[in-house]
Amino acid sequence: MADLEKLGKVSLQEIMRVAFREHVLIPAFNVAYLPMVETIVETLEECKTFALLEVSRPDITRFGAESFEAVKREYDRFGNPALTRLHQDHVPVIDEEGKRVDWSALVEEAMDLGYHSVMIDGSRLPLEENIAVTKEVVGRGRKRGICVEAELGAVLGHEAGPLPPYEELFQSGKGFTDPEEARRFVNETGVDWLSVAVGNIHGAISGVAKDEKKVEARLNIEHLVKIKEVTGVPLVLHGGSGIKKEYVLQAIRNGITKINVGTEIRQAYEKGWRKAGSIQEGQKALKEKMKELIKEYYEIEGSALRLAEKL
Ligand code: 13P
Repeated sequence: MADLEKLGKVSLQEIMRVAFREHVLIPAFNVAYLPMVETIVETLEECKTFALLEVSRPDITRFGAESFEAVKREYDRFGNPALTRLHQDHVPVIDEEGKRVDWSALVEEAMDLGYHSVMIDGSRLPLEENIAVTKEVVGRGRKRGICVEAELGAVLGHEAGPLPPYEELFQSGKGFTDPEEARRFVNETGVDWLSVAVGNIHGAISGVAKDEKKVEARLNIEHLVKIKEVTGVPLVLHGGSGIKKEYVLQAIRNGITKINVGTEIRQAYEKGWRKAGSIQEGQKALKEKMKELIKEYYEIEGSALRLAEKL
């Protein structure tokens, strides 16, 4: 327990650095409904696993997370710094419908609320503009000790309308993060963590597809290695739901430190909640799904103890 207390006192920046060095995966669980916060923290405590809680604009506008402030309030009630921190997921400069977003105000809101990290997503911009926006947010983060994640490449799936067939996307490598661009991006922005596209796609967030089982994605590990070799910062895998296990385990050995998981846990929660008409049943189903992910899929039960030992 003393070790875990130590972890609670260390910055997220440092925890991610150690996790990257030691190949310990840190999942980031999307909070799509407020009662998920209590259950996520409780499950992490039972499994002694370190993970982030994260919330994105779609969690707020399309599901039940309500606001960045409401999630922070729940986090303050239940959070445990030895096992979790709070991350603002995907603040897009251009959103999934092609509209410009007031990203500056959203990032500022999370920083003022006390989020431990934020993600600025300029991936729909030309490279130069993505670099400029990311650099600006990194500067703000540095002043306040807040980590910044950014994205390079196209992790598709959030857009409305049908995606090209997955196999076609994967084989063509279209939208994959370019290693040379990644090197330049990290050097020029000083970003803390980089989200990459190597075959991963997001689960749908609109229409009937949001309730359907997500395609089983694969990852191009050779491509990931090329990115890892030239960046040297913790890499992030978005669209974590439903990636074949063998690929996730290889990705952890090759630079992926954070994996974002939304669809799978949201669908588990919604199914339990709707079937029985009770939040408790939703929470029960969420806990079961999280335990399956932590123990059998990512194999990271006890990761908080491992991290604490390696500090
Ligand atoms: P999934 O919904 O596919 O798990 O992706 C979540 C995500 O990447 C949030 O940023």
